[in-house]
Amino acid sequence: MVSSADIDILDNLEEHLEPTDLEDAVDRPERTLSAIEFRDVHLAFDDKVVLDGVSFTVRRGETKLILGRSGGGKSTTIRLILGLLKPDSGRILIDGEDITDYTEEEMMDVRRKIGMVFQEGALFDSLSVYENVAYRLREQGVIDEEEVEQEVRRMLRFVDLEEAIDKMPDELSGGMRRRVGIARALVGDPEIVLFDEPTAGLDPPTARTICQLAIKLRDLQDVSSIFVTHEMNNLKFLSSEYATVDRDGQVIYEKEGEKLCLINTEVLMFRDGKIIFSGSDERLRASDDEYIQTFIHGHKP
Ligand SMILES: Nc1ncnc2c1ncn2[C@@H]1O[C@H](COP(=O)(O)OP(=O)(O)O)[C@@H](O)[C@H]1O
Ligand SMILES: [Mg+2]
Repeated sequence: MVSSADIDILDNLEEHLEPTDLEDAVDRPERTLSAIEFRDVHLAFDDKVVLDGVSFTVRRGETKLILGRSGGGKSTTIRLILGLLKPDSGRILIDGEDITDYTEEEMMDVRRKIGMVFQEGALFDSLSVYENVAYRLREQGVIDEEEVEQEVRRMLRFVDLEEAIDKMPDELSGGMRRRVGIARALVGDPEIVLFDEPTAGLDPPTARTICQLAIKLRDLQDVSSIFVTHEMNNLKFLSSEYATVDRDGQVIYEKEGEKLCLINTEVLMFRDGKIIFSGSDERLRASDDEYIQTFIHGHKP
């Protein structure tokens, strides 16, 4: 309920807002543009149908969790977004731009907006942490070493690993390797970050630190992302915690609590090339679909 006193406050607020503040408002028109959109996408390998009419939207600043069994088409979806594969039919839009028929050269510009976090971190084992994170910068033609180092340190600070800058990948724990993989994906400040099973094989506390990095990107950097996983723990972390900054400028993670509901995180569930569920974590858990309940609990309800 909005009382007249509230409206007075709102009116007052508007009067005191600078135009730039208003431009930052959540409902500014360009925010309604989607970051990623699939429209009735079909893809088959030979006669094996992998995506069978998939449609969804990732809004700006939103995190979409994609859940589904192994072989369900999740990584294929990511490869379609990167333009590494083309659909048999349907359209794919990135940032409102229809990229379906883009050439490899045109895709290069699109990929610059996208950071990719692979399963296992996918680091180059013969390169130091510094060189792994610097890789994309060098690829983009940044040659000034001072600038490279500054960026590498900024990315490593984001994942809380600046002290590992001179280490080799085999000196790092599994969780640290994933964090370096995330730092590498964040070079160039991409608006979109795609995570493909970033916590596979990690213990729950380490998986949580990886999820918190995704939460920090979502809540403090306004990044749009897809987070592919088959682990229910990740769903819990991403849909119940949010990141904020305390008085000392430290990032802290808070629980959404009973009353709040995170509106910037939703779940898609894939089954046999189709989306069988799209909505909030609460609605997913409340679903009476047997397949969904079995997926959530690991056994039949
Ligand atoms: N290049 C390819 N050629 C043939 N089949 C493929 C290819 N890539 C993926 N597939 C098949 O497509 C299905 C979906 O794979 P994928 O998207 O990797 O699943 P997941 O949900 O586990 O990430 C699997 O059955 C896989 O074997
Ligand atoms: Mg996969």
